[in-house]
Amino acid sequence: MINKAIILAGGMGSRMSPLTKAVNKQLLPIYDKPLIFYPLSVLMLAKIKNILIIVNKGQLEQYKKIIPNGKNLGIKITYAEQDKPRGLPDAFVVGEKFIANNNVALILGDNFFYGQSFTNQLLESAKLNSGAKVFLYKVSNPESYGVAKINKNNKIISIKEKPKKFFSDFAITGLYFFDKKVVKFSKTLKPSKRGEVEITDLLNKYKKSGKLKAGFIGRGGAWLDTGTIDDFYKTSAFVSSIENRQGLKIACLEEIALMNKWIGKNEIKKSIKFYGNCNYSQYLKNLI
Ligand code: TTP
Repeated sequence: MINKAIILAGGMGSRMSPLTKAVNKQLLPIYDKPLIFYPLSVLMLAKIKNILIIVNKGQLEQYKKIIPNGKNLGIKITYAEQDKPRGLPDAFVVGEKFIANNNVALILGDNFFYGQSFTNQLLESAKLNSGAKVFLYKVSNPESYGVAKINKNNKIISIKEKPKKFFSDFAITGLYFFDKKVVKFSKTLKPSKRGEVEITDLLNKYKKSGKLKAGFIGRGGAWLDTGTIDDFYKTSAFVSSIENRQGLKIACLEEIALMNKWIGKNEIKKSIKFYGNCNYSQYLKNLI
């Protein structure tokens, strides 16, 4: 079982400068809420209640203003600082104390997931006991991502980081489930040419022992990347069109907490007070 998860929400956001010079990318808006709400909602849908958010050194106070400790959501949120972006597997070194010999999930702070049956896939993945699991999504620009080649039985047979020559069009998304070996494995990784430890190297350690599983986000689902300004606005447009069409919000944290029966009307009322007079609060009012 997986009861703990990490959101990696630091990074330079260099591709989105100057927007990210003063404010971290994950605090910028995707339509009507900060980007960080979306990966956090994914973990909550997986029913994971103990969450570590890793942020850049010096940015903790900004995050705490919007997500203080998770109490209003019936979950426990703690923070850790990363002094510089050493790479994705560094999450397990920074988060070693938090993980404390447990299995753990990792989601990148800038990843957006949406789709029918995705919640069921999440719940299923959180049952992981040993090995590792990643989610794959077919993309038209695999050269921008870590990609995985699969065989007829949907088993991952090979992984490459940003392949220049076509290799597979299954991108490895920013959501991972690991057993407790992940800390030990992460500590043995050496930085690549770009000076970061690489998630592909970590995944290859699991693959070598035949312990890497793949889940698929089908064509009815969406995995959107918010790494560039263009992607950011495309994701915003996606959220806006779905929310306005349905009158339902994507990644309303309080709604998920209420649905999971982690909070009741009182906490929702407190949240309404906290957010103040805005469209998001109006939505919360309608929930109760
Ligand atoms: P990236 O997209 O690799 O980096 P970035 O967001 O800083 O953007 P850029 O490439 O434009 O500089 O990171 C993916 C996510 O992981 C992002 O949300 C930032 C986060 N991250 C960390 O918190 N620490 C790290 O060491 C790295 C590499 C990324």
